[in-house]
Amino acid sequence: MSLLKETIEKIIKDSIIKCGIELPDNIQIIKDSDRPDLSDFQSNIAMIFSKQLHKNPKQIAQDIVSNIDSKDIQISIDGPGFINIKVNNDFLSEILTTEDFNKRHLDTPKKIIIDYGGPNVAKSLHVGHLRSSIIGESLKNLARFKGYDVVGDIHIGDWGLPMGMIIATIKEEKLQLPLSVSDLNKIYPFASKRSKEDEKFMSVVQEETKKLQNKDKENIAIWSSFKNTSVADIKKTLDILNVDFDLFYGESDANDDVNYLVSEFRQKGISTQSEGAEIIDLKDYPMDNSPVPPFIMVKSNGAVMYGMTDVATLYDRIERQHADIVWYVVDSRQALHFHQVFSVAEITKIKKNTQLEHLGFGSVLGVDGKPLKTRSGDNVALMDLINDTLKIAEQKVSENVKTKDLSEAEKKDIATSVGISAIKFADLINPRTTDYIFNLEKFISFEGKTGPYILYTAVRIKSLLRENNTDFKDSKIILSNSYDKALAIKLCNFNEIIDRAFDARAIHILTQYIYELATIFNDFYHNCRILSEENNDIKNSWLKLSSMTLKVFEIFANIIKINIPERM
Ligand code: ARG
Repeated sequence: MSLLKETIEKIIKDSIIKCGIELPDNIQIIKDSDRPDLSDFQSNIAMIFSKQLHKNPKQIAQDIVSNIDSKDIQISIDGPGFINIKVNNDFLSEILTTEDFNKRHLDTPKKIIIDYGGPNVAKSLHVGHLRSSIIGESLKNLARFKGYDVVGDIHIGDWGLPMGMIIATIKEEKLQLPLSVSDLNKIYPFASKRSKEDEKFMSVVQEETKKLQNKDKENIAIWSSFKNTSVADIKKTLDILNVDFDLFYGESDANDDVNYLVSEFRQKGISTQSEGAEIIDLKDYPMDNSPVPPFIMVKSNGAVMYGMTDVATLYDRIERQHADIVWYVVDSRQALHFHQVFSVAEITKIKKNTQLEHLGFGSVLGVDGKPLKTRSGDNVALMDLINDTLKIAEQKVSENVKTKDLSEAEKKDIATSVGISAIKFADLINPRTTDYIFNLEKFISFEGKTGPYILYTAVRIKSLLRENNTDFKDSKIILSNSYDKALAIKLCNFNEIIDRAFDARAIHILTQYIYELATIFNDFYHNCRILSEENNDIKNSWLKLSSMTLKVFEIFANIIKINIPERM
């Protein structure tokens, strides 16, 4: 809870206790006001106690109010017993002055490994990877801001059947190595289609995959070559999105642990034979009260499955990297997969005390409300989507921005910042698990709940501070009207929002707050003529509030990794 709310809660709590009312633990007494014109905070505590005490809520509210002993707040009773709270200006500025927006320090920070991005070698990135990257990157930086020791791992898909498909095609067609990215992007869909239709080809693919997994020299050499090409391409795309990883591990890195664990689970009798495959039974691990199919450890043809690579990767994360918490930012449609992996980790005891969380997300939809596809029904390539966005962003920037004195390079940078902020903000304003419609025109608008609107507001503050020449750093915050007061109250809430967003692994809580902060700031900016204000104390206080607002925008920009330009 924010310091401001905590302080007010304490005042009201003391009064409730004086009234002789017994307070249950963890009860929330005040909340943000639904009617900021009438109050800053409100409490319906009297209504809650009324049932319990068989007493008129208005009477209870009056008792509470008359026992309040504080000059920091003003209280009134509304309707049948709602308590309205207004904060006095001096008290508010005192609290805001003690607020610290900086990064937290935890005495013994827990280690979080966050698995996100999850692109696949040879298949180009699509919008699903976009969401994982954007959300994962933000959660990683939020956890770091909270003071956790956080490691991001991309967990590239580089070891399954698709690898065999590429190798088989390269061998059959005697293709020259290294392949170009565009060749690679053509081979996979072709080979994937062919292996579904052509049984013979499929068995070659399986053979090549197995040889690769057994570290056959030739296959490893071919695989390394196209993996390098693919990874370089993936990095280029992620770079534009400002998404970066501490570890660039892939499924292939789990291979030795897969072999070790398979024989361990076999020896300990944890796995059993079933129709040629080796499975781990999950009868005792239902999901949402529904039975769960067995975990397939090794398929009947000896191939290692996706689930087992995840179990082995988790083993490394716990055993050697000493993770306390592992987050998987992966499509919600993989919920069953993670339920199985986590259950196996428990059964086999590799989990130890680690906290495992699948942080799923919803789909990106087209304007028709169906999953976003190209006209021919394919997944939309992420790079195409980014390029389209940047093109529109360039147009918008030349229309909206006073760009006369900017160089072409500067304009391009601004357009990139605008475009990327548009995509990221539009994603992160939604609760993680909901689907959303990809509507570029709407996302990239300078007005409304958009990334560009936030950038525009932050840039406005930057230029305000540039134009000003007084030193306000050590000035007192003096609140003089409803606009600066609303801004101060919003700023006081920042630390609470950070905690709530982290606890719920929900960046949208922060994103929504940032949008509200921008709106409140712009209201304040339009109604308080800062630079022409004659009272220097008030002017400096307004400048200080503005720079605190900018600080919050900068923290946000650093968490979701967008760039606030100097001018736009
Ligand atoms: N490569 C997978 C895909 O594209 C996602 C990987 C997610 N992470 C994991 N540890 N399974 O579907």
